[in-house]
Amino acid sequence: MDLSGKIALVTGGARGIGQRIVLALAESGCHVIVSDIDFEGAKQTADVVQQKGVKSLALQADVSSADDVSAMIDKSIEMFGRIDILVNNAGITRDNLLIRMKEEDWDLVLRINLKGAFLCTKQVIRPMMKQRSGKVINIASVVGVMGNAGQANYSASKAGMIGLTKSAAKEVAGKNIQINAIAPGFIQTEMTDHLREDVKETYMASIPAKVFGTPQDVANAVLFLASPMADYITGQVVHVDGGLVM
Ligand SMILES: NC(=O)c1ccc[n+]([C@@H]2O[C@H](COP(=O)([O-])OP(=O)(O)OC[C@H]3O[C@@H](n4cnc5c(N)ncnc54)[C@H](O)[C@@H]3O)[C@@H](O)[C@H]2O)c1
Repeated sequence: MDLSGKIALVTGGARGIGQRIVLALAESGCHVIVSDIDFEGAKQTADVVQQKGVKSLALQADVSSADDVSAMIDKSIEMFGRIDILVNNAGITRDNLLIRMKEEDWDLVLRINLKGAFLCTKQVIRPMMKQRSGKVINIASVVGVMGNAGQANYSASKAGMIGLTKSAAKEVAGKNIQINAIAPGFIQTEMTDHLREDVKETYMASIPAKVFGTPQDVANAVLFLASPMADYITGQVVHVDGGLVM
């Protein structure tokens, strides 16, 4: 995929899926802004990006803070002049059965996963409207579509992201801005590493492809949606899940 010269901003880009998305965009020729609440991690990733011969900027931002997000977008525009691609990837889990779920864990997950995507999308839309082009890609989850016991807060946040994707896509489709979501299934990262072996086996049994996904599988879908090949695709949810949801 050739995305030479495009400016991309990835939230939660310090590790895991976000980091692979950052590197894949850089390998396709994008200059990449690596944003994360973990500044050291963002810096390390940005250093790797620069070794690939494109420009990079590491920024510390908590996506659930309107002030942080506003500063993140301003700094990016100041440095690169525009943002062509925004990937809303930052996300967390705080799993528990609903009956035991603490209100603060509900609020935290909704605030980072859903409000974070709202704030970043809202802030980037104005410059994208001015430049009359842009791509926003929201990293949702299959559990936002099918639900998951023990993840009521996370599933609600990801279902909300899908609603946000479709509504925002309708609002800006006429301005040549495409907004899509990706719904990964079980992807091997730090987020899933800590799960018990029996839980992993149960997941595996329900995946028709009989293999877990990799961050690269998600990054591949991002590259497609970020490219001109997807210019006529908006408001969609692309499942990257080995057939888990169909
Ligand atoms: N791993 C999976 O199986 C899977 C499946 C479906 C969807 N997802 C989604 O993919 C995305 C990335 O997941 P991952 O597995 O790479 O997770 P991860 O925990 O490995 O990485 C998440 C990144 O987000 C950052 N982050 C956390 N809170 C933040 C905040 N408030 N502001 C900015 N950055 C913040 C973290 O520092 C970290 O770098 C998440 O949105 C997750 O919900 C993951």
